[in-house]
Amino acid sequence: MANTSAEAFAPATVANLGVGFDILGLALQEPGDTVRVERRSEPGVVVSRIEGDGGKLPRDPDKNTAGVAARETLRLLGVAEGVSLTIYKDLPLASGLGSSAASAVAAAVAVNALFGSPLTCDELLPACIEGEAAVSGYHADNVAPCLFGGVVLVAGTSADQIFRLPIPDRLHLALVTPDVAVPTAMARAVLPKTIELHDMVLQTAAVARLLNALHRGDVADMAAAMELDTIIEPARSHLMPLLPEVRAAAKQAGALGVVISGAGPTLCAVCDSSVIAQAAAAVMGQVYTAAGIASVTRHTRIAPDGARVLRVD
Ligand code: HSE
Repeated sequence: MANTSAEAFAPATVANLGVGFDILGLALQEPGDTVRVERRSEPGVVVSRIEGDGGKLPRDPDKNTAGVAARETLRLLGVAEGVSLTIYKDLPLASGLGSSAASAVAAAVAVNALFGSPLTCDELLPACIEGEAAVSGYHADNVAPCLFGGVVLVAGTSADQIFRLPIPDRLHLALVTPDVAVPTAMARAVLPKTIELHDMVLQTAAVARLLNALHRGDVADMAAAMELDTIIEPARSHLMPLLPEVRAAAKQAGALGVVISGAGPTLCAVCDSSVIAQAAAAVMGQVYTAAGIASVTRHTRIAPDGARVLRVD
């Protein structure tokens, strides 16, 4: 008998990893978004309910990342039926944790599961990217780690340009998300259109050093390389309240480096133990509390696997 519903989870992601603007990303163990899909006899996609977005996300399926990803997945599957979506948002919106990508990926994976999972992750990638593009541009540094898991080099937007990188054993992350919305479009608008050759050389060297550190499992050198960004962070730092203070506090607590997560405002501290990540998360939150800014802190690890099917009925 045909399945009637399916549910999938897709994790938060940290894009850029400092120096790797638009080309590096990693998946977190938690939090993440969940999308439930139900089969409809009519073609097309309906967004029937969204929980956890404070009413902010569009219900129009053509403007909603999950709606677009579901539509594209149905097209890839070549099925005549449609689906209705229920989106459970656990990720804060416009926070730099890949919220739009997580909803898109969860929707694509759930729709595929509903129809028996005939498509591989490689084949689902274009549908996920289309979903993400509905709100934040055609780049895959959130979508790819969200779908595939781990640390990912995104050399392009097709599956053969996505490369899994080693995950250092001792890597732990602390994250703080201040209550400040930084839409990706705004954070991209402040970036320079051209850069000096000198800056290009520095940035390329830093990315190469980061990749080398990942391959050696050297968390300290990884953190040092991530912080060498001389292009993106300086252009965006005015959108990230208290970045220098948060960085200093995290390092005082033992963190090895702090970078902007994706387009921000979440800040991500790289640590080499769970105890330090917990301490760093706490002090980063305290910096915002002292300034009267609400924030949410987390300490977590990398998810080696990305989105997953939770149930099929
Ligand atoms: N690489 C992207 C950026 C991630 O920093 O703008 C946000 O989607």
